[in-house]
Amino acid sequence: MNPIYLDYNASTPVASQVLDELLPYLRNKFGNPSSGHSFGVACRAGIEQARERVAGLLGCKESEIIFTSGATESNNMVIKGIAKAAGKGKHFITSRIEHPAVLEPCRHLERFGYSVTYLPVDQFGMVDPADLEKAITSDTALVTIMHSNNEVGTIQNIAELARIASARNVLFHSDAAQSVGKVRVRVDELGVDFLTVAGHKFYAPKGIGALYIRNGRKLLPLLHGAGHERGLRPGTENAAFIVGLGAACMVAAPILENEGPRQMKLGKRLFEGLQKARLKVHLNGHPEKKLPNTWNISFEGFTAMDVMDALGREIAVSPGAACHGDLVEPSHVLSAMGADLSLARGAIRFSLGRETTEAEIDRVIEQLRKGLKK
Ligand SMILES: Cc1ncc(COP(=O)(O)O)c(C=O)c1O
Repeated sequence: MNPIYLDYNASTPVASQVLDELLPYLRNKFGNPSSGHSFGVACRAGIEQARERVAGLLGCKESEIIFTSGATESNNMVIKGIAKAAGKGKHFITSRIEHPAVLEPCRHLERFGYSVTYLPVDQFGMVDPADLEKAITSDTALVTIMHSNNEVGTIQNIAELARIASARNVLFHSDAAQSVGKVRVRVDELGVDFLTVAGHKFYAPKGIGALYIRNGRKLLPLLHGAGHERGLRPGTENAAFIVGLGAACMVAAPILENEGPRQMKLGKRLFEGLQKARLKVHLNGHPEKKLPNTWNISFEGFTAMDVMDALGREIAVSPGAACHGDLVEPSHVLSAMGADLSLARGAIRFSLGRETTEAEIDRVIEQLRKGLKK
């Protein structure tokens, strides 16, 4: 039997169209994009086309896209870059359910005299806009709140949160690593100043990402060198992967509308199938305002390790709790959502992808029905 991959939030395979488009940049179009000869010019053209494609998916200008090595770098670039640039303010606001790629740069700033407010979330993982309103002070330099959560898939009301920040003249960043390529993310509709994109979450290679920087917004670079990427990200561009990121945007755009509902249906099939198999399951995260591919499910009476054991090594999922030997600790996201401790310990993240089929979902249900009855 073929293994089943349900860990697409961890990483996706590279789409065949993406691979086809990027390979020439490792072969004949290998020139340095800063060179004026034809090899360099061909490479530069690929990069600039990719910039247009990323901008097209996000609804912004090409000049507002910087290529980075991924979401971790993009997040660090904004959070530390604002801290370095901030004339105004030594206060930052984020949420308790961010990825470590936001939480750790914030904690880093705290060690250097900045203060950070970590906003709470409700039981569905939603930030209350009223809490943001209250947290902003005259000293606030940046609000950074994720577009969707990587563990439970809850999608925040970013447009409203960004409006609150903007009304108080505060910059707003959103880590959209898990959203771009899966659901509609348009910076023009969201009203954000900065937005993080991660290639390998939507069928581009690992080690490539982007940062949207609204025209006129100032950041200081983390790296210093030659003037690549408007001086914000020096170093010879990773041209092949940049081209791959652009291709991934082209692949994602026309299928967003159908693939989301298809994956949502598959997720429901999984959840309802587990219920029918008489397993006591609980859905973590928001039931509707969620990524269609992300199904974080707690199995009452079991730990995440029990469920992983029942699935075996051929069905790839992520535990929604950290397992250290026999000790199972609930994740910081489920803890922030106030999840019942024993349920949080039995949480598993099933994250679906374009290749996921009904037959695979049915096999997973059957495997768990048998494995957890024992
Ligand atoms: C929401 C979110 N932000 C940031 C990251 C970090 O991405 P990368 O490891 O590609 O830098 C991830 C990866 O899982 C993520 O899910």
